[in-house]
Amino acid sequence: MNQEPPSDSSNSMESIEREFPKLLHHPFDLSLDEWKDSLAEGGISLKEFTSIKKIRPDSKSLNIIIVDGDSSDGDEIRALDEVCGEEIPAAIVLVETPGNGARRDEDSSSLLAGFVPKPIATEPFQISIRAAFRQTAYRLAAHREENHRTIISRNLENLTQIGIALSAEQNNHRLLDMILTRSRELTNADAGSLYLVEETPEGERSLRFKHTQNDSKTIPFKEFVMPATKASISGYVAVTGESLNISDVYQIPKGVEYGFNQSFDQSVGYRSMSMLVVPMTDHKNEITGVLQLINAKQSPDILLPDPASADENVIPFDPAIQQIIQSLASQAAVALENSMLLESIERTFEGFVKASVQAIEQRDPITSGHSERVTDLTCGLAEAVSKIKTGRYADVEYTEEQMKELRYAGLLHDFGKIGVRESVLVKANKLYPLELEVVKNRFATIKRSIQSEYQEKMIHLALGGNKDKVKTLQAELEQRLEETGNLIDLVLRSDIPSMMPEGEFDELLKLGELTYTDIDGTEHPYLTQYELNCLTIQRGNLTESEFSEIQSHVSHSYNFVVQIPWIKELRGIPEIAYGHHEKLNGEGYPRKLHEEEIVLQARMMCVCDIFDALTASDRPYKKAAPLEKAIQILKFEVKDNHLCPELVDIFIKDKVYQVVEVFVDQEYEEPEPKS
Ligand SMILES: [Fe+2]
Ligand SMILES: [Fe+2]
Repeated sequence: MNQEPPSDSSNSMESIEREFPKLLHHPFDLSLDEWKDSLAEGGISLKEFTSIKKIRPDSKSLNIIIVDGDSSDGDEIRALDEVCGEEIPAAIVLVETPGNGARRDEDSSSLLAGFVPKPIATEPFQISIRAAFRQTAYRLAAHREENHRTIISRNLENLTQIGIALSAEQNNHRLLDMILTRSRELTNADAGSLYLVEETPEGERSLRFKHTQNDSKTIPFKEFVMPATKASISGYVAVTGESLNISDVYQIPKGVEYGFNQSFDQSVGYRSMSMLVVPMTDHKNEITGVLQLINAKQSPDILLPDPASADENVIPFDPAIQQIIQSLASQAAVALENSMLLESIERTFEGFVKASVQAIEQRDPITSGHSERVTDLTCGLAEAVSKIKTGRYADVEYTEEQMKELRYAGLLHDFGKIGVRESVLVKANKLYPLELEVVKNRFATIKRSIQSEYQEKMIHLALGGNKDKVKTLQAELEQRLEETGNLIDLVLRSDIPSMMPEGEFDELLKLGELTYTDIDGTEHPYLTQYELNCLTIQRGNLTESEFSEIQSHVSHSYNFVVQIPWIKELRGIPEIAYGHHEKLNGEGYPRKLHEEEIVLQARMMCVCDIFDALTASDRPYKKAAPLEKAIQILKFEVKDNHLCPELVDIFIKDKVYQVVEVFVDQEYEEPEPKS
């Protein structure tokens, strides 16, 4: 196992000599018994071979091969170059009778490191062997150094490109995925995990298992939190900030503070072996996460479905690549910090927007939840439009940013109601309740004044003994009171905004001409001109000025949202909100735009806004329309050239209405055509 940092020191000759076991291969007929003990003291193990062809040097040791120069020719010795190749650290020491060298080609092997004349004398033998081991270590160090440089220079460009890609990704989940994918690509790692450091207000730190990838096993992901302590490998890295490059996590030597828990491997039939674990440090040099790469392979195509395949194929992580991964992890930490910051700003902003919208909707409890429902419906419709690859909107496909833009526009579309008086917003009938009270009181006064007028007359007649006349007046009084009662009933009926029965409009106009005289003898109309105007409203309950006050909410919404310094991707919000009451034929408000002037998102919002207004909970003067009726009305709006036919069609066919809770299980069925 290698815990050392990938500095130049790990490639130095001294550290290689310390790290690698020494193996001395010798011909079986060349006895080294005489030096066996002193060789063992120097940490050198012996291995016999019967012929040069059967030599099997060990890639994890420094190999010195003693070749009998008297019995071997140049070709045989040269063949060893191929056996050892670049990867296996090895050198050859020739033992030969002086003068026999003429049989051998001087350039027979690049591995030749020394000569020992026969008969073998202790001193030259030991000097040659020691020198050969040193030379092997030196060559390995040089080879590693070169590899190191090659790996770094080859990956520097990758690293720059990865850095750019990471900083461009704003979606947190995709960013985590990209960090793991790219680090695994660079290292040919079979698997990897990413942990984020969390800290409680009390300063207690923990690690949240945030993302994982594994080429060989499908492992269901479940987020969990574990304490950030030195007991686990990732905890150790998070606490100390040290990178760990472990060649086999099942062989962690005693005495280190961390350990590896094999239970997960056992539960899924996986074998974790080599592991590279690096801290992710942000711009303040604080550790914000841990990147863990598992099982380096020679090639990304190799899979490790079972422990045996891991034994066969897993190699240690190259110390040179460790530097690259450390660098990548730092870039990733900064990118992650930015994206998390952005997400938290967005969350805060969305929370603020929702709270503001809720505050506004509370002024009119009847429309409560309208903005959010319109948002859900409009986004649902936009998603449906994006999916459809035929027809008028085949080319329309909204990006994630555009969907976000639409979402904010939806939430804020009626924000301008803040500029509309609450009494107008919640006005249920044609007269405000207080105004109606005034009318009722006035009619009570009228009745009383009629009564007192008649009573005065009747007392006068009674005193004169004219009983018959009194009776007649009494009947007349009752009739007058009944008529007045009918008039107030007419007022009460007209106050409710529904279709006025035929004739009542004229009756109201007549009522407007009636007057009564008060106690001071002043003449007053039964109804003021304002009251008459209100009560004779033919459609709905609002006067013209109230109607335009309500309509002004669109301009208020626009004037409000246009002041927000939206980022480039969200700059369409004001225009979308501004267009949500425009109609295709130019009869909408406030700008009376025509179809081609209304942005598509606003046209979608218009469909959804009408749908919600129709189906939202009962209003005092209007029942919530059932799904069938609401859709029929949308179709009438299409016929009147108010709404876009394609959008209403997609709204119906894609069952966009099901995003609203009450319609989740409902399905619109086209009515049978009347025969
Ligand atoms: Fe609106
Ligand atoms: Fe609305």
